[in-house]
Amino acid sequence: MRRCLSSLATMFENKNILVGVTGGIAAYKVPDIIRAIRKNNGNVRAVLTASAAKFVTPLTLATLTEQPVLMEMFIDESRRSTIHIDSARWADAILICPATANTMGKIAHGIADNLLTTLIMAATSPVIFCPAMNKKMVANTFYQQNLKKLQQAGYHFVDSEPGELACGEFGAGRLADKIKILARLRKVLFGNQRLVGKKVLVTAGRTEEKIDPVRYISNYSTGKMGFALAEAAWIEEAEVTLITGPTELTTVDEIKLIRVESSEQMMTAVDNALPTHDVVVMAAAVADFKPKHFQEQKIKKSTALQTFELQQTTDILKTVGEKKGEKIIVGFAIETENELSNAEKKMREKNLDFIILNNPNVLGAGFGYDTNVATILDRMGGREKLPLMSKKKLAEIIINKIVDFRKDR
Ligand code: CTP
Repeated sequence: MRRCLSSLATMFENKNILVGVTGGIAAYKVPDIIRAIRKNNGNVRAVLTASAAKFVTPLTLATLTEQPVLMEMFIDESRRSTIHIDSARWADAILICPATANTMGKIAHGIADNLLTTLIMAATSPVIFCPAMNKKMVANTFYQQNLKKLQQAGYHFVDSEPGELACGEFGAGRLADKIKILARLRKVLFGNQRLVGKKVLVTAGRTEEKIDPVRYISNYSTGKMGFALAEAAWIEEAEVTLITGPTELTTVDEIKLIRVESSEQMMTAVDNALPTHDVVVMAAAVADFKPKHFQEQKIKKSTALQTFELQQTTDILKTVGEKKGEKIIVGFAIETENELSNAEKKMREKNLDFIILNNPNVLGAGFGYDTNVATILDRMGGREKLPLMSKKKLAEIIINKIVDFRKDR
């Protein structure tokens, strides 16, 4: 089931992405990035420098992109040599990944001595650099000067990360996580700066309510919907705070990520952030019950029934609704019966502008899926029933609703 739903992954919607690969060991990660773009409906052409071809084979990239890999300026001397112009013109965005100090230095100085550096000179589409190198090279004065020059010239960057480097050292210089690279690419391609200056607070994932040192009460939420919403708001240039329960997901550095475990911790984090935010989207699946008392010692099965008492958690969204003011507040409703009337009731009782209704029993809409099936209800009585779609797409639609709602007020 999950496999057939992958056809709904349309993050790149037929955009043309030129991937320039330069000669660093991180080039071994590029096939995976290209595959993710292709799986999300993006068209990819790969341009390799001669050094890059020592780290990753043209055959691998030609197979994944389903296009010939471009390496030479002059393929055939009897033909026009406009390959650099044609390639630059074709691209909606150019991703240089990994970007070596050498290629960045050349571009910063207007040197065009191979196909990639030459086509960058002719490019009018946005260019994203993903640098990767040894930490001493990162610290090098000339590299730093070149980096600044490229940043000032308006090129985009996905900064390298600290971590273990291929040379065995630890420090800055590792190629950024794939998630961050793909998110930046989406922002460059689709962002319209519609939430500039706005602060958006998103919650995501489940909470875990501790019973004793080895057990907790929780649910199956993985946080995918909340993370997709935070990213969609960031793509529109909002300043985003993401408060998440336990999850393995990660996000771009520009999103302020606050990790919590229990509903009580989430309540405190939301309460602290609330006064400074304009929009709140509560996508977290907060546990409704928690043990009345945390047991310091592991509960023995023979005594479990006598000692295990529950109490309700605080309804975080209801508390937010009581302090609504001018804020736009969006909630979710998970319903398996009387869906519309229950969702409407929740929207009213929690003082929301929108509620996103979904039923985890519907195919493709449950926790953990990359897809969702939702109906968006608004406080004016509007209802929009949406088909099965990726959570990223649904997040984009919800953020669009928020943008339009702001305009109408
Ligand atoms: N919510 C919350 N705090 C809770 C429980 C839920 O903030 N303790 C929020 C969720 O993040 C969601 C909305 O309230 O945005 C609705 O959550 P849902 O689980 O559908 O409903 P509940 O309000 O918990 O009611 P019920 O379980 O009875 O359907």
